[in-house]
Amino acid sequence: ATSDAHVEILLDEPVATVAPAIFGHFIEHLGGVIYDGVWVGEKSKIANTGGIRTQLIERLKAIQAPVIRWPGGCFADSYDWRDGIGPRDKRPKRTDFWADEPHAEKLSNNSPVKFEPNQFGTDEFARLCKLSGAEPYIAANLRSLPAYAFDQWVEYCNSPAGSTAYADIRAQGGTRDPYNVQYWGIGNESWGCGGNFTPEQYASEYRRFQAWVPHYGLDLKFVASGPNQDDVAWTSKFFESTLHDRPIPPPWALSLHYYTDLPEALKFEVADVYPSYAKANRMERIILDHWSAMGVYDPEHRVKLVVDEYGPWYRMGTELDPSHIFGEQITMRDAIMTALTLDIFLRNADKVGMAACAQLINCINSLFLAHEDHFVNTPNYYVFHMYAAHQGGQAVRTEFSAPGVTFAAQADVHGPWDENAAEKAGSLWGLNGSASVKGKIVTVTITNPHLTDARDTEIFLRGQGSVGSVEAAVLAGDEIHAHNTFEQPDAVTAKTVQATASGKSVKVTLPPSSVTKLTVALS
Ligand code: AHR
Repeated sequence: ATSDAHVEILLDEPVATVAPAIFGHFIEHLGGVIYDGVWVGEKSKIANTGGIRTQLIERLKAIQAPVIRWPGGCFADSYDWRDGIGPRDKRPKRTDFWADEPHAEKLSNNSPVKFEPNQFGTDEFARLCKLSGAEPYIAANLRSLPAYAFDQWVEYCNSPAGSTAYADIRAQGGTRDPYNVQYWGIGNESWGCGGNFTPEQYASEYRRFQAWVPHYGLDLKFVASGPNQDDVAWTSKFFESTLHDRPIPPPWALSLHYYTDLPEALKFEVADVYPSYAKANRMERIILDHWSAMGVYDPEHRVKLVVDEYGPWYRMGTELDPSHIFGEQITMRDAIMTALTLDIFLRNADKVGMAACAQLINCINSLFLAHEDHFVNTPNYYVFHMYAAHQGGQAVRTEFSAPGVTFAAQADVHGPWDENAAEKAGSLWGLNGSASVKGKIVTVTITNPHLTDARDTEIFLRGQGSVGSVEAAVLAGDEIHAHNTFEQPDAVTAKTVQATASGKSVKVTLPPSSVTKLTVALS
């Protein structure tokens, strides 16, 4: 191992409190996410709690899942929430929104799911959230339903028992008390599948949707549909139209989506690995660019950023079942991209109010893969398990110093959405991560992207406090393609490793291609 790596934790330089919601999740009616993933039905032989996969609930509790976004994604802007309430055997079947997705054509032609059965609706989603301890975050249909239908959805979820006709329907379905849903997305990707709006057109729709929504005493948090990736012009124009020209109350947050578009989930070349990290790492620049654009119209930064879709997205070919559209396998490479992304959110805890990994199960950057009675944690699950300790802590400035990695130009590191571009030669930091403090506990998370070199690393505490004791956990596979399957579910898991403490310093060896968490108790 090389020993030229240093980390400095600046305990007296707080960034902001880490919103637990930045470790949030996303489930959409897409392929195998809801049906086969989350919802198995009450009569299923698969262990379930009120129709929801029990193993999933247990794992969500283990990672302290703070928030779950539903029902989409693109699906949200075609969904009529009224189809998904009332007795399940009376709910209408609708066309499977994703059946005509061109990238999924081959799969959907084989897919047994040709329709949306509406067995999982608002009540079932609220049940999932309650059982797993997560807050619900609902994306409203802005493209194809009127604002009044949105008001009524809020009424169904939040009006007090016995107060409205929808409260009565909710009670007939078994839930007397309101769900008190606070987070509401006003559309999804309104620049694309959510309506192909210009930012000015969307701003005008947003004005209408947010006006006079019934609050029932709650502090409703509206999330405006924001840009695709680094489309800063969208953000500027939306802010100009809503906060400058005839201003309205600002949204709680602006949503931002960024996928790391890549070709091969499993059969990738080792030479593609560093360019993929560099691509995932663009998230930080995208956050900073939008934050400055927002500051022009919102200098006090009342509006937060919500990154409610992110993750590596590959061409299809590794799905566990033909119906699992975008149901990619997840390797150690993905776990590192997920970890470095979460560290970006932590380093920008003053800006990012919430995030949602796309998606929770059987789709894109999954934490779990499931099919019928099989269920497995992906390496991403262990990342979320390790990083849960940051929730609610105080993020502090942290400096990393280690030799960087360099890479040559790649002809083919682009996936389904951007197939023609080539990645330029470049470089990436040698170590990166984040730290937070909660009482006497400092949590430090670090990724080592190097494919072959372990790093002997010294972590030094600056400011008040010395190291009392330290524990270390590491997620690393045998090699970068390592992943879990139903047959080999524990090929990649987090393990305890040795770290030594002395005075204000901790020493630990970070294996190649690894994610490490240190739990430092201050004396
Ligand atoms: O997560 C899959 C899709 O990606 C979502 O439906 C959409 O919002 C995004 O384009």
